[in-house]
Amino acid sequence: MSRSIRVLVLIAIFAAALGVSFGTVLWLFPVGKSLVTQPSTVGGPFRLVDQDGVTVTEQDFKGKPFLVFFGFTHCPDVCPAALFEVSEILRAMDKDGDKVGALFITVDPERDTPEKMKDYLQSFDPRLRGLSGSTEDLEKVAKAYRVYYKKVPLADNDYTMDHTALVYLMDKDGRFVAPFNIKRPPEQAAADMRRYL
Ligand code: NI
Repeated sequence: MSRSIRVLVLIAIFAAALGVSFGTVLWLFPVGKSLVTQPSTVGGPFRLVDQDGVTVTEQDFKGKPFLVFFGFTHCPDVCPAALFEVSEILRAMDKDGDKVGALFITVDPERDTPEKMKDYLQSFDPRLRGLSGSTEDLEKVAKAYRVYYKKVPLADNDYTMDHTALVYLMDKDGRFVAPFNIKRPPEQAAADMRRYL
């Protein structure tokens, strides 16, 4: 298979595994561009606040590989599943889990205050950092990570959020590596993550 076909096949597998549309993923990773040698087009500087009210920036992860995913605490299924799976990976990494970052960035800063995040994250690995900020802060970081999100009105003045469900693996220099597959045995994902330590 040619390189670009292999890349396409990989992208299709990721898309199927993560339940995102093929179109979205193609938009993220234009075919023909190498995922390895091109300068990173995903990620960048950010300044947000974690569930303990501590300011977090990309500088805090210098020398540490980290996972980033976007979601919101009212999410009915995708986000809690992802948080559970990432928690399992951190558990499988044991002490090495302290040497990586795992960031859950809200796309719903209106409701997801640090207090709300703290409450919500009690059910998951304590090493997960739940990040929120102002609407502008979130717009910036979502744009840097090429994350799509949109408010969808529900009945009774309620709403939900549509959002990209990819988990991004960033290397210890803060460069985007690839979408990280969390839909596999945690030990296998942990072994994969250890390669970037
Ligand atoms: Ni979600």
